[in-house]
Amino acid sequence: MKNIAVIGAGTMGNGIAHTFAQSGFTVKLIDLSEKSLDKGMATIAGNLDRMVAKGAISEEDKLKTIGNIITYTDIKDGVVGVDLVIEAATENVDLKLNIFRQLNEACSHDTILATNTSSISITQIGAVVSHPERVIGMHFMNPVPIMKLVEIIRGYNTADDVTKTIMDLSEKLGKVPVEVNDYPGFVANRILMPMINESIETLYNGVAGVYEIDTVMKLGMAHPMGPLQLADFIGLDVCLAILNVMSDGFKNPKYAPCPLLVNMVRAGKLGVKTGEGFYDYSESKKAEKVSKQFK
Ligand SMILES: NC(=O)c1ccc[n+]([C@@H]2O[C@H](COP(=O)([O-])OP(=O)(O)OC[C@H]3O[C@@H](n4cnc5c(N)ncnc54)[C@H](O)[C@@H]3O)[C@@H](O)[C@H]2O)c1
Repeated sequence: MKNIAVIGAGTMGNGIAHTFAQSGFTVKLIDLSEKSLDKGMATIAGNLDRMVAKGAISEEDKLKTIGNIITYTDIKDGVVGVDLVIEAATENVDLKLNIFRQLNEACSHDTILATNTSSISITQIGAVVSHPERVIGMHFMNPVPIMKLVEIIRGYNTADDVTKTIMDLSEKLGKVPVEVNDYPGFVANRILMPMINESIETLYNGVAGVYEIDTVMKLGMAHPMGPLQLADFIGLDVCLAILNVMSDGFKNPKYAPCPLLVNMVRAGKLGVKTGEGFYDYSESKKAEKVSKQFK
């Protein structure tokens, strides 16, 4: 396996493209517009610059990595001749089903079709293609070049040989793959999202402020960052989408998203990617906590 395509150049897509390109793969990075692709490539270049500055890689490694990535705005053009597609587009079920219908038309029948979805059913996605045994979840963690875990999700129809290929491939990237079954939220988000939602609920109920909640969890539970800051890094829209999938999938109100989370997403406060969430990430503020409504 040498050629792969990544669909979506956002937070996760550019990290996945970076990781494969740095391991010598040719990566076709696909997004809807040149603007999104330019933003994704600028993020990759910035992250590689930081690695060069730390002495983790050489300037030559950086140039090689960037040279291994080719950008496309059309899925049909981007997936020609690839062995593996990793879909990392927006967390929306209809959008993903539509992409997989296009992949079904455009890819050869032995191409492995993976999705980086955080919560959407792999089995449901597999049901829209003619070879569902070749569909699998490949759930990377953010930031992809740094985080070791890849949660590998087997859909109801995913074949053993496809699972083995993807587990081996993840190891070749220097990651640690863990195989899980296909139920809403899989393992990572089934456990993480209720904690994030509960921390937002704690803020919403006025029990404590942003700084206090995050500090309790950082210093008291030895978490490297607090749950509210982690939500900002993940993207509040992504958190909301995952909670909605779990809430619908389990028909259990314990997964219902906190109204404050819903409001912040409606207001466009999505976290780091929009410059403000529970913290303010604008250049002048540098991750100061936001205390407009809740101190
Ligand atoms: N953010 C996280 O921490 C995280 C972690 C693990 C998994 N995920 C999952 O990864 C996926 C991507 O999340 P993200 O945080 O990178 O989102 P994002 O909003 O940062 O990026 C999504 C990108 O997909 C592009 N896109 C939308 N529709 C498209 C289409 N039809 N064709 C091509 N590109 C399209 C958008 O233009 C955007 O650039 C989601 O399924 C999410 O659940 C996110």
